[in-house]
Amino acid sequence: MTHSSPRRLDGRIAAVTGAARGIGRAVAERLARDGAHVACLDVSATRTQQAVDEMRAAGLEVSAHVVDIANRAAVRDTFARLEAERGGVGILVNNAAWIRYQPAAEIDEETLDRMLAVGVKAMVWTMQAAMAGLQRSGHGAVVNICSTAALRATADSIAYCAVKGAVAGLTRAAAVDFGRLGVRVNAVAPAFVPTAAALANFSGEAVAKRTDSTPLGRLARPEEIAGAVAFLVSDDASFVNGELLTADGGRSNSAL
Ligand SMILES: NC(=O)c1ccc[n+]([C@@H]2O[C@H](COP(=O)([O-])OP(=O)(O)OC[C@H]3O[C@@H](n4cnc5c(N)ncnc54)[C@H](O)[C@@H]3O)[C@@H](O)[C@H]2O)c1
Repeated sequence: MTHSSPRRLDGRIAAVTGAARGIGRAVAERLARDGAHVACLDVSATRTQQAVDEMRAAGLEVSAHVVDIANRAAVRDTFARLEAERGGVGILVNNAAWIRYQPAAEIDEETLDRMLAVGVKAMVWTMQAAMAGLQRSGHGAVVNICSTAALRATADSIAYCAVKGAVAGLTRAAAVDFGRLGVRVNAVAPAFVPTAAALANFSGEAVAKRTDSTPLGRLARPEEIAGAVAFLVSDDASFVNGELLTADGGRSNSAL
């Protein structure tokens, strides 16, 4: 693909977790269109390869990295390889999550542990593993995908709210610790985004309710969440640190 004018992420290396589908895939695509080489990290080998093949066919510079981000040693290996092959990442987007909805009275230990391992602990592992490269890049930026579930609860979401509440908190804390190293850490909080995974968890009635209570009168496209991420990792956000950017069409601030 040839471009006449420089793009804002030209020459930068990004890693996106959960990049094989949904919001992560849209983020990977957007950062690559903005000029970055994007390492797509996902636990699903087939889906990751397919996503990367499709993005490459569209002229984008992406690579596939199959890894379970809940496995700290495997995360270290993946980032060590990125360090050796590409000189480390300057952008990290923590998007992957493993999500189940269960009533508070019924949530089981295995489900809660896995949700916290993928949705919370793994963000710490990836930030630690990527930090040397992020710091060295001189423009290091991390974006953690949170949710409006960090702000407001819905039914059967005790584990999900715990995960996303933790993401909001760890983002602020990481912004303090890593800010000292010149690395910014922010979060994006979408409301309901009709990805295949999200649609599988909600009835048509629940989706309609979310649409009606959104001031913009529609739900987000994954590309619109990717746009918020693209802003936060860019130099346009060079003094934005520790921020939770809500991208919900105005839903959290309205009484609809
Ligand atoms: N879709 C929504 O309504 C919505 C709303 C708010 C926030 N979010 C957040 O956005 C993110 C993406 O949501 P989505 O709807 O695109 O989900 P999705 O299920 O479509 O995509 C998640 C991706 O993460 C990968 N993944 C899961 N476990 C992994 C692991 N252990 N290691 C590596 N990869 C793993 C999956 O294979 C999948 O490709 C999540 O953090 C979610 O909580 C989604």
